[in-house]
Amino acid sequence: MSAHKEAWGSRVGLVLAMAGNAVGLGNFLRFPAQAIQNGGGAFIIPYLICFLLMGIPLLFVEWSMGRFGGRFGDHSTPFILNSVSGGKRAWWKYVGVFGIFTNLAVAAYYCYLESWTLAYVWRSISGAFAGNDAAAVSQMFTDYVSLGTSEPIVFWIICLLLNTWILSRGLAGGVEVAAKVGMPLLIFFGVFLAVRGITLTAGEAGAVYDGTEGLNFLWTPDFSSIWDFKVWLAAAGQVFFTLSVGMGSIQCYASYLRQRDDVALNAMSAGWMNEFVEVVLGAAILIPISVGYLGIERVVELTQTGGLGLGFRTLPYLFQQWGPILAALAGMAWFGLLFFAGVTSSLAMGTPVMGFLRDEFGWRRERAAWAFGALVFILGAPTVFFFSYGVFDEYDYWAGSVSLVVFAMFEIILFAWVFGMDNAWAEINRNADMKVPVIYKYIIKYVTPVILICVFFGSLLSSGGILDKIANKDLHAQIAAATDPAQVTELEKTLTFVNGSRLLLVVIFALIALLVYLAQRKRNREGRVPIPSRE
Ligand code: ALA
Repeated sequence: MSAHKEAWGSRVGLVLAMAGNAVGLGNFLRFPAQAIQNGGGAFIIPYLICFLLMGIPLLFVEWSMGRFGGRFGDHSTPFILNSVSGGKRAWWKYVGVFGIFTNLAVAAYYCYLESWTLAYVWRSISGAFAGNDAAAVSQMFTDYVSLGTSEPIVFWIICLLLNTWILSRGLAGGVEVAAKVGMPLLIFFGVFLAVRGITLTAGEAGAVYDGTEGLNFLWTPDFSSIWDFKVWLAAAGQVFFTLSVGMGSIQCYASYLRQRDDVALNAMSAGWMNEFVEVVLGAAILIPISVGYLGIERVVELTQTGGLGLGFRTLPYLFQQWGPILAALAGMAWFGLLFFAGVTSSLAMGTPVMGFLRDEFGWRRERAAWAFGALVFILGAPTVFFFSYGVFDEYDYWAGSVSLVVFAMFEIILFAWVFGMDNAWAEINRNADMKVPVIYKYIIKYVTPVILICVFFGSLLSSGGILDKIANKDLHAQIAAATDPAQVTELEKTLTFVNGSRLLLVVIFALIALLVYLAQRKRNREGRVPIPSRE
């Protein structure tokens, strides 16, 4: 077996790295935007139900599958799934391609997003926002992503180099150290800003409403959405994205566990830490501060056009109202916490790609890390240079939403029905440091797969869903309605870039599948036992 030797240094490091994988820009930028776009209190009920019935079961499943695969020296999903299937059906390997593809494609746009945070730390410290009004600060962000200067490219390259360097230092020496430094700092910065958000009072430093106004919007239950399929899809998508389930990174991290290590309690610690950061800290910063200054209506309006940008467009201006010193500190804390959250997640996206290259082709760690960096650079370049033509959003939709649901649906069927629920339950509970409530045996077997299948078919068929996306219905309608020839030309250009990015993603998927095929042939030639014994 040519599997490489790599392991976690400590349990604390492992849990922090896993929590760091989950806690990301999704918690602080995507969650507030999704909550606002989907009606605040109307979003939170489907969100919590999806967390309990899909998020938690998938955490148990992915951690267990990862540890199981690691027993046979497999550290990426194609061969982890192959091991779990008992090697009986070759195509499970190709389902596992999702677990490499998604990480690569999400990293491609995620690292760019991460680099904005680094640039904005610098802008906050250097006082770049001082003296600008709200519209000018918002415009600064528009100019930034339109590549008005070389600043975005410089920070993007710095970010890629930093990720590559940390990855090249390995799990214990790189990823774990980053998590041990980044996670406590992130929570410290988060608490500082959350206290500021919650205690914001109308009339203070130009605020118009109390910070609690935004919190009430989010936490006042509104049952009107229960029958709105779109809100359920958004909630499920957010739970997947924030927990990093359906990506392939949890399985990869868990494959480096020792066999005597627990998965049940570790999975819950990392998962609940993520939820604390999301629904307590994530909810208490962007929404209360923005609503405090701008009011709910304006914030809802702003999130309709690019929710991820909200924190860059609004907060630097609002911080200015607190005086220059607090503004610099708050800017550093906000964008610094985003940066730490981002980097601990993008590192997790690198490990499955590296694990695959190292396991199957015997690459050294450094070489695999640089290969990942180079691939993210190549695949990420279109999101940087053609951001305004929707390439970034296209990657987010296909890799950051659809792929997660598709992969999770297959893997839970594999684990609960092919591997068998009794084996699966034994695997989850093996050396467990907590008693997993037995109800989860039934949830994993019946409830989660059924919900996932519904979510998938719902996303496929609903208005504005996957099929409509493939047909570019929305863009065609915009082109048909446009009267200005210049606008028609721009929209047609967008259409070309959107189709081009989809083609690129399909080509990447096919290339990874080809590598998996070659890896299997290599295994066969070397006589590597393809079907590990389960005993
Ligand atoms: N789970 C990561 C996030 O929330 C990807 O950003």
